[in-house]
Amino acid sequence: MITVVGSYNVDFILKVEEFPNEGETVFAKEIYINHGGKGSNQAVSASRLRSKVRIIAAVGNDEFGKNAIRFWEDEGIDTAYVKIKNSVTGSAYIIVNSRGENMIVVNRGANALLNEEDIDNALSGNILLTQLEIEERVVKKALKEFNGIRILNPAPAILKDFSILDYVDILTPNEIEFKELTNTDDIESGIQLLLKKVKKAVIITLGERGALIATKHEKILVPTIKVNPIDTTGAGDVFNAALAVYLEKNYDLRTAVRIANKLASYSTTIIGALGPKYEEVKDLIEEENEN
Ligand code: RIB
Ligand code: NA
Repeated sequence: MITVVGSYNVDFILKVEEFPNEGETVFAKEIYINHGGKGSNQAVSASRLRSKVRIIAAVGNDEFGKNAIRFWEDEGIDTAYVKIKNSVTGSAYIIVNSRGENMIVVNRGANALLNEEDIDNALSGNILLTQLEIEERVVKKALKEFNGIRILNPAPAILKDFSILDYVDILTPNEIEFKELTNTDDIESGIQLLLKKVKKAVIITLGERGALIATKHEKILVPTIKVNPIDTTGAGDVFNAALAVYLEKNYDLRTAVRIANKLASYSTTIIGALGPKYEEVKDLIEEENEN
């Protein structure tokens, strides 16, 4: 089982031609309201790849919160440890331009109220997947107490307590998060810095260039497939979900990253932040088994 400790947001997605400048108004071409939040996206995307998934998250005592729980149940996710808080459900306001790039403002709502006690007795399974849209002390406790492979997706780029990294096996920053974490443009020294703390590997996701795996022994650039992105929101979430799924199936890190890359790229051709169902990407995945 994969346990995800993380956030849920309702995503309000506005498709525009170009982002507005400061003080400027632009018209949206389309609007979508979708399930989002990094924790939920990762949990749902992993479940769609047919892994057993538990989500530990907080929603508000409103319609959005009820919808979220119903949605997770429909997706086959264990919701026994979902908390309902006296608050609004988290929401995210996402602007996507014609190149599929995004800008996001998150109102954390109930996500900020998930607390350390909420994860008591809830951690189990082989893989823990967590991110930074909930309080850092909750992330830290989960990583500290989990028995198994611990993956931290340090997103968004706001980590304050660096001691958290001491409890991480695999860290998966994108380029912005990597710079923020290491305070350097120099990839090599940044990686060395992170590998002093992170136990097993740092995997930097590089968008259309794929991902760079760095361990104490080697650095491998793993390329991805070429696509025409229409919405890159959540590509990182799909990557992390697939990584967890295939590591749990005991694939080696490189193969797991190869599949995660492909599914993340594929997901950018679909509006919204959720990953594809297994049947839809079966061929992409099975190519890897033949290699
Ligand atoms: O990673 C994508 C997610 O970030 C969106 O679903 C949005 O909710 C923001 O949290
Ligand atoms: Na997408």
